[in-house]
Amino acid sequence: MKNIVLIPGDGIGSEITNSVTTILEEAGAEVNWIEKSAGLKAYEETGNPLPDDTVEAIEEHRIALKGPLTTPVGSGFRSVNVALRQKFNLYSNIRPARTLPSIDTPFRNVDMVLFRENTQGLYIGKEKWINEGEDKRHSEAIAVVTEEASKKIIRAAFDYAVKNERKKVTLVHKANILKLTTGLFLEIGQKIAKEYPDIEFQDLIVDNMAMQMVLRPQQFDVVVTTNLFGDILSDLASGLVGGLGVTGAANIGDDAAMFEAVHGSAPDIVGKNVANPMALLFSSLMMLEHIDQKQIAENIRKAIYKTLVEKKVYCTPDIGGEGTTSTFTQAVCDNI
Ligand code: NAI
Ligand code: MG
Repeated sequence: MKNIVLIPGDGIGSEITNSVTTILEEAGAEVNWIEKSAGLKAYEETGNPLPDDTVEAIEEHRIALKGPLTTPVGSGFRSVNVALRQKFNLYSNIRPARTLPSIDTPFRNVDMVLFRENTQGLYIGKEKWINEGEDKRHSEAIAVVTEEASKKIIRAAFDYAVKNERKKVTLVHKANILKLTTGLFLEIGQKIAKEYPDIEFQDLIVDNMAMQMVLRPQQFDVVVTTNLFGDILSDLASGLVGGLGVTGAANIGDDAAMFEAVHGSAPDIVGKNVANPMALLFSSLMMLEHIDQKQIAENIRKAIYKTLVEKKVYCTPDIGGEGTTSTFTQAVCDNI
């Protein structure tokens, strides 16, 4: 049994985590859930959106599965997602995008895995005002790229490619303009690529990448890029296969990992039994693979695909089904 910290989160969080834990149990996953709180509910109850005992549990067990958290607009409430990434140095954000059966999109045979650097770049939000008077406001932002962090994420992408028998790594940058920051990222990628002669290496400028992903997404296999480009392109990749409701995500560091859905807490559908658990479910499959329960993950994946093909009527309305969270969960369990 592997101890996993489970953070159901806010909004539809408890509905989709219930579905996921039910399906994993049905499939015989060897996990022991240690439930902890975070987000708005935790804030209302304890005054802290990320209570100490939640952090301590992750420190102890090193792996977490997290539902969506509501981030209230206003001051004093730090993003829990960002806090966890920083605290445990979860430098790899991994987002697979794979075509799913019966999910209607204009793109077929997509199968890519995007690695986004999770701690640096322009995304860190180091901005400031340069005062030039009331009617001439001027703001600036800083982008950070270090050799150390770039090596880690690029190596993570290549190692993943080797381990999962992938053939190609595409590094995405804007080194023609941002020569020092994304130029450094590219230079490190070119060096590391030489250590992996069996993996094809390609680099693309980000604007071209955006076009290529829409024109011919099938050409991409493993993709690695800096934080902000990765933020945008990973959502684009999800869009190719059906959106944020059907794609999983992982945040992985050297000694901790957090698996999560990328969608939010969906306050508009809370309590209606129509939340789609697929995104969190796919994240949990990445978790099972991470803890070497690959066969169980594969069995669940097959059951999901079978459900999509045969029993779409049992799926939730966001993907064209006529069912509920419960009917989907039951159908996947029946197919395992
Ligand atoms: P959202 O992702 O919660 O909802 C956008 C739309 O997608 C809504 O119509 C919602 O019903 C639908 N939707 C989302 N997940 C779904 C699912 N699993 N099944 C079916 N439909 C689904 O984004 P929104 O409304 O912008 O944010 C709501 C709250 O969530 C905010 O407090 C925001 O800060 C938070 N949020 C948290 C994230 C996280 O914890 N990773 C990510 C994004 C937003
Ligand atoms: Mg995003």
